Amino acid sequence: VKIAVLVSGRGSNLQAIMDSIEKGYIKNATVNVVISNKANAYALERARNHGIDAVFLDPDEYDRDEYDRAILNVLSQYNIDLLLLAGYFRLLGNEIIIAYRNRIMNIHPSLLPAFKGLHAQKQAFEYGVKVAGCTVHFVDEGLDSGPIIIQKCVPVLTRDTEETLTARILEQEHVIYPEAVRLFTEGKLKIEGRNVVTGN
Ligand code: GRF
Repeated sequence: VKIAVLVSGRGSNLQAIMDSIEKGYIKNATVNVVISNKANAYALERARNHGIDAVFLDPDEYDRDEYDRAILNVLSQYNIDLLLLAGYFRLLGNEIIIAYRNRIMNIHPSLLPAFKGLHAQKQAFEYGVKVAGCTVHFVDEGLDSGPIIIQKCVPVLTRDTEETLTARILEQEHVIYPEAVRLFTEGKLKIEGRNVVTGN
């Protein structure tokens, strides 16, 4: 399975996936290219450190549709089977979603369908929930709305701040994203309507 990862920033989820492949937790898979919409994304450096091609596509050089086509071009150059969004802070165009239907995953730092969109941990913290978490899901045309693959919850503790809660969630993101990718590469994810049936 040839994987491409779309990023905008820090890239800790990218790191978790590269590490899982190197350790053999995810087998029969390679991250072949990392694409960023930000020139200075630390994720690009992480990719290069692992000998993985890192591509910056400048949003200022294209209009919206052209930008998506530029991404599609890279994906087909590398014969990509699976596209991962990992802290990619830009909406993905429908052309890509249609071309890679059921082959695009995203990690979101809330228990969907609660707290979609930006700053999900802050939304959860301010809402006062007692349980928070993260979700890996397939990407469809909606915002954080595709079929759910894995979720993991964490407690919200009395002394939590938004920062400590965010850190507790992130730790679990680094567990469930590699797990979801492993299930995909082992052919264990079957989509039945909104339901993702795992072979577990
Ligand atoms: C993560 O919290 C992820 O859930 C959200 O953006 C953040 C990206 O972090 N979509 P990183 O770039 O993977 O470190």
